[in-house]
Amino acid sequence: MKQVLLSSAINRLSPRPTPLPQAGEGSKIAVLLALVALALPTHAADLAAGRDIFATRCASCHQVGPSARAAFGPQLNALNGRRAGDTAGYRYSDAMKTSKVVWNDDTLRAFLQSPGKVVPGTRMRFWGMSNARQIDDLLAYLRTFQ
Ligand code: HEC
Repeated sequence: MKQVLLSSAINRLSPRPTPLPQAGEGSKIAVLLALVALALPTHAADLAAGRDIFATRCASCHQVGPSARAAFGPQLNALNGRRAGDTAGYRYSDAMKTSKVVWNDDTLRAFLQSPGKVVPGTRMRFWGMSNARQIDDLLAYLRTFQ
């Protein structure tokens, strides 16, 4: 009896211990953090990767940079806002010339995924790229020639 009284007195005097997180709380936090990480932009475009992609997949037909000229394909400087089929010194297909497409990130992304869907009848023979990250890197690289 004495014992019980004593311990209840101690209980009243001492501040309540803060409860430890329950089991499972930590993993809930981990899940939340993972969700936040997913919601943030996960990928900053990689210019070096874009340059490599251009070199291996585009440069056989296209040039960029100060001395870029029409080659097998038209030069690709200042693409953003450029009308399709509009550079001097390159003979485009009628399909490209009359397509009324204006190049921007959306139209370029769609064209690179499937050229013939955006400009049916284009002479650009290209199987298309499906990797969104590669396309982002490539477009970021092309923007440096804006
Ligand atoms: C096998 C050669 C070839 C390859 C490889 C190639 N292209 Fe082309 N590209 C062309 C030709 C040819 C045209 C002109 C098409 C036409 O007139 O219909 C063209 C047109 C374009 C146009 C339209 C330009 C304008 O002035 O309207 C863009 C943009 C373009 N290519 C981007 C690319 C990119 C980016 C790559 C690399 C991922 C690439 N191409 C790979 C041959 C190629």
